Amino acid sequence: MNERLANIKQAILDGIEKHAESRAAAFELRKQFLDSKTGEIGQLMKEMRNIAPEERANFGKSVNELKEWAQKCFSELDEKLKEKELQMRYESERIDVTMPAEKVQTGNLHPITQMRNQIIDVFAGMGFEVFENKEIENDYYNFTALNTPKDHPARDMQDTFYLSPEFLLATQTSAAQIHTMESKKPPIKILSPGKVFRSDDDATHSPMFHQMEGLVVDKKITLCDLKGMLDMFVQKIYGDGTTTRLRPSYFPFTEPSVEVDVSCFECGGKGCKLCKGTGWIEILGAGIVNKKVLENCGIDSEEYSGLAFGIGLERATMLKYGINNIKLLFESDLRVLKQINDN
Ligand code: PHE
Repeated sequence: MNERLANIKQAILDGIEKHAESRAAAFELRKQFLDSKTGEIGQLMKEMRNIAPEERANFGKSVNELKEWAQKCFSELDEKLKEKELQMRYESERIDVTMPAEKVQTGNLHPITQMRNQIIDVFAGMGFEVFENKEIENDYYNFTALNTPKDHPARDMQDTFYLSPEFLLATQTSAAQIHTMESKKPPIKILSPGKVFRSDDDATHSPMFHQMEGLVVDKKITLCDLKGMLDMFVQKIYGDGTTTRLRPSYFPFTEPSVEVDVSCFECGGKGCKLCKGTGWIEILGAGIVNKKVLENCGIDSEEYSGLAFGIGLERATMLKYGINNIKLLFESDLRVLKQINDN
C-alpha cells in the first residue's frame, strides 16, 4: 500500500514537471488526483474498508498527508503559472512609448460647408433661424413675388435654367423671403442657405453655386440695422477691424438696394492686388425689402419694414482663402482642400 502512495506521489511530480505548462493543463492534472469523486487520492479513501482494521488509522493518516501535500503542490504550481502568464501578457502587450506615433488621417468639411457654418454661427448669435432653401422653384417665388414680373428687364440679370414654363432651378435664394413671409408673421429673422443655378461659367462663376439669404422684418428696420449686422458678419469672418461700405445698386425686390463692399482685409485698405488697389472688395447684394414684396406676402408695409441680403458662399470663401478660380472649390483636389482648413 505504501508503494501505491509513493507511486501516486511520483506521478504527481512527473505530471507537474512534464505537462503543466499552462494553468488550464495544471487544472486538469489536479483534477486527475484531487477531484472529490474521480480523483486517484479520493479513490484510495474508498479502499479503506479493504484494509485490516489495525492498519486503518495509519493508512488514513498517510492518505491525508498525501492529499495535503498534493494540494500544496498544486496551489504553488498555480501561483507560479499565474505569475508566468502575467509576465507573458506584459511582454506581448508592451508599448514602446519612444516609437513614432502612427499618423491619424482626419476628414474635414468642405471649405464651402465651413463658410456656411461660420456664417450661420455669426447670425445665429444675433437670433436668426435657419431654413434650408429649395433647389427647384416656380416662377412666382423665384421672380414674380419678388417684384420681377415676366416682362421685367431684371430677369436678364440671371440666366435662368427653365425646367418647364412654370418651374425652374432657383437662380437666387431670395425665394426664401417669400416662403418665410407667407408662413410667419413679423418679427422675422431668418437665414436661408441653398444651391442656386445660372447659365454662367468662367473663372469666378459656376453654373451651380451657393448663396445665403438673410431676411429681417420688424417695426422700424432701417439700413443702419443692415450695416450693423453686416459689419459684425465681416468682422467675424475676415477679422477684427474689417468694415463695410454700401454703394447704391438695383434689385427689384429691395428699395433702396445696395452693393456691399468689405474693407480689404489683405492690405487693411491701403490698396493691393486682392482689392485691385481700391482698398475695397465687393462682397454681397442687399437692401431694404421693397414695400411691394411685403404686400405680396400680406404684410402691412406701413407698420413693418425689412432688410435682406444675399451672400455668395463661393465668393466669400475665395476671398477669405485667396483662391482665384472657382473650379478649385468643385474639383475636390485634396492637395487644394488640405490647404484650406480652419478646423
Ligand atoms: N438675390 C440677389 C442676387 O442673387 C442678392 C440679394 C439678396 C440682393 C437679397 C438684395 C437682397 O444677386
